Amino acid sequence: MIPPASHPLFPTGTPPAGLTLTPVALTGRQLVLAVCRLSLLDEAAVTRRLGDEERQRLAGLRHARRRREWLGGRLAAKEALAGILLLAGGIRHGADIEIRTGRHGEPQPAAPALFVSISHSGDYAAALASRQCRCGLDLQVLTPSLEAVRSRYCGANELRLLARLGRHLPPLARLGILWTTKEAHRKAAGGWPLPSLTAIRVVGGSLKARHLELHVCDDAERSALTRAWLTDDAAWAVTCISLPGTAFRRTVRPAFPDLLSQK
Ligand SMILES: CC(C)(COP(=O)(O)OP(=O)(O)OC[C@H]1O[C@@H](n2cnc3c(N)ncnc32)[C@H](O)[C@@H]1OP(=O)(O)O)[C@@H](O)C(=O)NCCC(=O)NCCS
Repeated sequence: MIPPASHPLFPTGTPPAGLTLTPVALTGRQLVLAVCRLSLLDEAAVTRRLGDEERQRLAGLRHARRRREWLGGRLAAKEALAGILLLAGGIRHGADIEIRTGRHGEPQPAAPALFVSISHSGDYAAALASRQCRCGLDLQVLTPSLEAVRSRYCGANELRLLARLGRHLPPLARLGILWTTKEAHRKAAGGWPLPSLTAIRVVGGSLKARHLELHVCDDAERSALTRAWLTDDAAWAVTCISLPGTAFRRTVRPAFPDLLSQK
């Protein structure tokens, strides 16, 4: 990641401790990923930035660990949204955007046409922000539980694909990639209920210099390109799905052949 001190998304001032911001270009869209290290989080400073509804929500969180990860997610979301607005308008807005919580737990920025997705695991809380398209982010520290529940989210074709694309990766890392790819897609798809993990299929992809690019589709015929990568201890995936009626879906779908069905 780019060191925050020299980052153009922080043209003035210093970023909060432990926070990095990274622009991500995906299918012609510009998204912003914010990652926060929970061990460096200044809870009091983040709490001061919360809006009324967010304060109420925080007051309902009893466990220290949950409060910390929730605050880390809010900080990352506010910074990612500020980054998106900066990219769109060239200025950093003074006020933080409040992030409300939807009926099913989904984060909803209190501003039009902006989207944000939040994930936390281990020492990380992170958020991905986008404009005009729904985005999804998932991160997962690599733990043996990924192996224990693999039958809930892994298809045989997907495992073969990941073994081919990620032959240099340990098996647990491949499972982490598959898990986060599907969870990111679920969050971007939205609606209720969220699509199940088995309704989402990874059907193709390619290995890039520092990440995997995976073609994902689901039972509702949504298709998306997902970027997945690994850090020392975690798997990460980001995606975006265009809003209905935009050109993205029409133009991208034909480019996603089901590579695995070609024997
Ligand atoms: C949403 C879900 C995919 C999150 O995955 P997870 O691996 O448990 O946890 P992650 O850390 O990756 O993500 C948690 C974040 O997802 C977001 N989230 C929660 N529900 C969401 C939804 N329906 N759609 C999109 N994002 C959602 C939240 O921002 C949450 O963080 P926060 O509560 O601190 O704001 C998972 O919890 C799920 O399937 N939930 C089903 C919805 C549900 O049970 N809702 C209960 C309330 S009705």
